[in-house]
Amino acid sequence: MGRRTYDSIGRPLPGRRTVVVTRNTTWSAEGVERASSPEKALQMAGQDHCFVVGGAEIYRQMLPHCSELCLTRVWSTVEGDTKLAIDLSEFEVIEHTSVPASKRDDVPTEFLRLIRRNSCGK
Ligand SMILES: NC(=O)c1ccc[n+]([C@@H]2O[C@H](COP(=O)([O-])OP(=O)(O)OC[C@H]3O[C@@H](n4cnc5c(N)ncnc54)[C@H](OP(=O)(O)O)[C@@H]3O)[C@@H](O)[C@H]2O)c1
Repeated sequence: MGRRTYDSIGRPLPGRRTVVVTRNTTWSAEGVERASSPEKALQMAGQDHCFVVGGAEIYRQMLPHCSELCLTRVWSTVEGDTKLAIDLSEFEVIEHTSVPASKRDDVPTEFLRLIRRNSCGK
């Protein structure tokens, strides 16, 4: 994850190894590792299956390396301050779950799993 995403969460994600990408060579936080670039973070993951968890800056740089997308589509219009465009034509949907609005969540949601056409990424 990018350093700004880490700041927005404020703690390591539970139950997994977390690598934070930053240009700040003195940055540190308990329970996470630091990488000086997205490529370095990939190297640190080695052969392990790893997930890129944002934000937009990191998604943009890592998307070409990704063979699979886990996409949550929330059917709501929100203002937001961080935007990302993904060319979904490069991917093919292999799983699709629709969750209607409910008492728990008042907007419909879709969970999509997509794989890259001619996938050769990590
Ligand atoms: N909807 C979602 O799926 C999702 C997921 C994650 C996050 N978010 C949201 O996205 C927002 C943050 O996204 P963002 O795009 O502003 O920031 P970001 O991608 O989380 O982090 C950007 C930071 O990463 C570091 N970085 C970026 N490129 C680098 C490179 N090539 N080499 C070394 N370090 C690099 C820099 O840290 P330094 O400034 O420390 O050098 C940069 O400021 C937050 O609001 C978060 O809540 C949404």
